[in-house]
Amino acid sequence: MLYATSQASYWDRVAREKRFSHPLRSDWLSKYLEPQALVLDYGCGYGRTLEDLRGAGYLNTVGVDFSKGMLARSRESLPHQSLILTDGHTLPFKDSSFHAVLLFATLTCIPADTAQRALVQEIKRVLRPKGLLYISDLLLNKDGRNRERYELFADMYGTYGIFELPEGVTVRHHSKEWIEELTAAFEQLEYEPFPVVTMNGNVSSAFQYLGRS
Ligand SMILES: C[S@@+](CC[C@H](N)C(=O)[O-])C[C@H]1O[C@@H](n2cnc3c(N)ncnc32)[C@H](O)[C@@H]1O
Repeated sequence: MLYATSQASYWDRVAREKRFSHPLRSDWLSKYLEPQALVLDYGCGYGRTLEDLRGAGYLNTVGVDFSKGMLARSRESLPHQSLILTDGHTLPFKDSSFHAVLLFATLTCIPADTAQRALVQEIKRVLRPKGLLYISDLLLNKDGRNRERYELFADMYGTYGIFELPEGVTVRHHSKEWIEELTAAFEQLEYEPFPVVTMNGNVSSAFQYLGRS
């Protein structure tokens, strides 16, 4: 819990300055999801993907985040949006509430295997049968700058790809194998690697995954 609290204060601190850019594939959504679907955006940040969902015709959306600062910024651009502050672990929703859950650049902020597993399990609980899990996140990179920091922190965190940023937050880049393991309870519908510009302006390998519960 302490860990979640210290990570949340980082996101509060940077809530006004960061820009995120993982793209929403509206072609994937329209292929598998009805426009009236109820969609949860977990780790919604300042509401960027909620706005994109709205643009793609999905109006029944809920955003959750554990950062008050991020939610405050969301409220400025989306005053009528349903937005909920979470404890970073549990979801205040009944079983089978949502047709789809988005997890955009959020796994990277929840580095440990156990925490990621618990989150995916909690998401599965609130998804309806055959509900969709749509992940966009960072993959391991092979360049020297990234390899150096993966190696520096590998012993401390016990996982290659978890590292600390000098600005005071711990993040993770993922192997494809780990994402396969994490999503093993879902049927994979789509997967695509792509390059993304990170919140600090660097290019990183990334992936998008769409799975069905
Ligand atoms: C990199 S930002 C991405 C925001 C948004 N999904 C986007 O793509 O624009 C990650 C967000 O996840 C939130 N977050 C990180 N860990 C979380 C947790 N355990 N529970 C809820 N939100 C979390 C942060 O506060 C931050 O707003």
